[in-house]
Amino acid sequence: MTGETSVSLCRPLSIRGRTLKNRLVISPMCQHAAEDGFVTDWHIVHYGKFVLGGAALILTESTAVAEDSRVGIDDLGIWKDEHIPGMKRLADFAHGNGALMGVQLAHSGRKAFSEPLWEGGNAMRPEEIERYGIPWRRVGPSAIAASPEWSVPTSLSVEQIQEIREQHVSAARRADAANMDVLELHYGHGYLVASFLSPKANVRSDAYGGSLENRMRIAIEIAKGVREVWPAEKPLFVRLSCVDGTVDGWSLNDTLVLAGRLKDVGVDVIDCSSGGLSEETRRSNVPRGFGFQVPFARCVREEADILTQAVGLITTPEQAEEIVASGSADLVAIGREALRNPYWPAEAERQLTGGEEYRAWPVRHRAWLDKREPVMRRLMDEARGTSQNEGNEGGQ
Ligand SMILES: Cc1cc2nc3c(=O)[nH]c(=O)nc-3n(C[C@H](O)[C@H](O)[C@H](O)COP(=O)(O)O)c2cc1C
Repeated sequence: MTGETSVSLCRPLSIRGRTLKNRLVISPMCQHAAEDGFVTDWHIVHYGKFVLGGAALILTESTAVAEDSRVGIDDLGIWKDEHIPGMKRLADFAHGNGALMGVQLAHSGRKAFSEPLWEGGNAMRPEEIERYGIPWRRVGPSAIAASPEWSVPTSLSVEQIQEIREQHVSAARRADAANMDVLELHYGHGYLVASFLSPKANVRSDAYGGSLENRMRIAIEIAKGVREVWPAEKPLFVRLSCVDGTVDGWSLNDTLVLAGRLKDVGVDVIDCSSGGLSEETRRSNVPRGFGFQVPFARCVREEADILTQAVGLITTPEQAEEIVASGSADLVAIGREALRNPYWPAEAERQLTGGEEYRAWPVRHRAWLDKREPVMRRLMDEARGTSQNEGNEGGQ
């Protein structure tokens, strides 16, 4: 699409030295398909189909910066240089087909090692994890479990916090070596940084706990450290749980303060999610509805004056268009709808621009679909004529 389109969702967006061809992003989605953190054939096909499906940017699932703190045993990882070539295959395929590729960096903290959803999605018991013979630990700001099903995490020392910051910085260097365009820091859903932010999980009395300023310290230090090594021409996103879903926990006002501070250290986009801190969030005070998190994206965009990405139950092209056109968010992330139909972004663009052309499809498919279109229209007109005649006859 050109920049002149009247469809907001189809307008390109340049952030630093990268241009997203439209406003649609594939949201990070854990696949539990990696081996020792390595990209497998599953990832090549899974992410490849989104590249062909017309999104401007595809974000990987949460990708572990530390071997011992993955979300699941089978998470993608970026904790060693050997992971770079697999990641690079993903990025190179995206670049060869008109898309950008980003990595979501994560440290899962006190919610390390859970089962895939299809096996129950529960916290793994320590003896279960030990069967894999890999290093593992659950850590957090304080020795408070996420909920009774999770074992109590070890409270991190200041040296260990610095080590985790360095793990993020090293991971960012590797992501750059893998030709990735975007980094997203996962500060949401109750994982390590989210647990530091929330007074419900963080009861420290040192420089990393207590006041809002102290609870935000790790978030800002990691972002600052990453920005120093992540090339100036590449965008940096942060996913936040704009409210953590607990009573008296992390609030939207806190998010606005943090968003401003992250902007100051060179973060470009806040990806506005919510919840996930603890058991309480299963009774989330954010009721689920279409686009239920969009108001967060709008508020952060307006109040913190930073680009935002909206996510959560965005399921129709019209809804996505309205979000961008009305200024609620700059980008729209699609998760489960893209699992249902990886061509959702291309189809959205086609529908919103009048349904005439398959412009957003890969060139190898486009010409065939465009060529078939007049035939389809004729056949559909004929079918409509037939059914109208049948209707008329039936009415006589
Ligand atoms: C299979 C699956 C895995 C997910 N894994 C992650 C993840 O790794 N990191 C993350 O930030 N969010 C994760 N999410 C949340 C999604 O990125 C998204 O925020 C959520 O599904 C809401 O968007 P949707 O309604 O479009 O699916 C996951 C969601 C799904 C369905």
